[in-house]
Amino acid sequence: MKILLTGGAGYIGSHTAVELDAAGFEVVIADNFSNSSPIVLERLETITGKRFPLYEIDVADKTALRRVFEENEIGAVIHFAGYKAVGESVSIPLSYYRNNIDSTLSLMEVMAEFGCKNLVFSSSATVYGNRAKLPFDEEAKTGPCTNPYGWTKLFIEQIITDYAKANGDFSSVLLRYFNPVGAHESGLIGEDPKDVPNNLMPYIARVAVGTLPFLSVYGNDYPTPDGTGVRDYIHVTDLAKGHVAAVKYVLEKKGNEIFNLGTGKGISVLEMVKAYSEACGHEVGYKIAPRRPGDIAECYANAEKAEKILGWKVELGLSEMCRDSWNWQSKNPEGYK
Ligand code: WQD
Repeated sequence: MKILLTGGAGYIGSHTAVELDAAGFEVVIADNFSNSSPIVLERLETITGKRFPLYEIDVADKTALRRVFEENEIGAVIHFAGYKAVGESVSIPLSYYRNNIDSTLSLMEVMAEFGCKNLVFSSSATVYGNRAKLPFDEEAKTGPCTNPYGWTKLFIEQIITDYAKANGDFSSVLLRYFNPVGAHESGLIGEDPKDVPNNLMPYIARVAVGTLPFLSVYGNDYPTPDGTGVRDYIHVTDLAKGHVAAVKYVLEKKGNEIFNLGTGKGISVLEMVKAYSEACGHEVGYKIAPRRPGDIAECYANAEKAEKILGWKVELGLSEMCRDSWNWQSKNPEGYK
């Protein structure tokens, strides 16, 4: 029995493949490489000693997806595949709604055709919008989302929830990621955004390795201890292990649940800059810039539910996040190119 990772060559997917393999699961990857590289499969082979079966397909293509299920006995699916750039989603909303929702509906219809009833979905803390009380917990009211990307995640959560209600033997886990950062300890896989990174950690990494001149700190007048934005950064390896726990949960047919995957700790932009400077051994240059539209001051998780029900908790802290990010970036200054 195998675990299918849609978007499995991506940042979170590839790290999850490593941890699933380490936990004794057989991994199958489906990816169209729209935001990932085929080189990842070679790197995964170096790390695990295994060449995972790869289907270079668009998950929305049901004919192609059926072949995956015909050729492999898929026990559970982790659905990573989807567009995920917040800013881009504002400028091309229809592409985001079409791609992210279509691929999910196609996946769930093909799963039903083959009797696969176990699904883990890659959701996001962005579904909490900016009304929920801190720390965000899974019972908090969701929305309104501040961008189409976030709405696609919330709509897909609703689709899965409604389907589970109508199909008693279906088991699902919705994982709400906070801010995934860092890289596998080998430095062979890591975050490789297309173009100039939108997110903080990969941007700092590019400044540290010298491919970008300095970091613009988007606002230092927030109601936070040092005035800069506070987020819940989680090491991608801890996040990957959370997916292993979620796969075990759905396979044991324990029902349908939502879990935050975060540390429960907020770190500011300037604290991140300081920690990264220590990790790379030189100052990361920055300038204070105006606030970024749509940003909220603080966002961090109540991470207790995943610990209580999944038996999962984070093991890696800020210094390991920066150490491993720097190890990846300094060994791969141009990413997978
Ligand atoms: C973090 C902090 C910025 C860049 C986004 C998505 C979310 C999730 C994670 C997918 C903020 C500040 C950033 C820069 C800066 N993605 N910043 N200069 O916005 O919390 O969350 O990524 O699920 O859905 O919304 O992450 O890394 O962009 O920003 O000062 O060049 O860093 O203002 O305070 P964010 P981020």
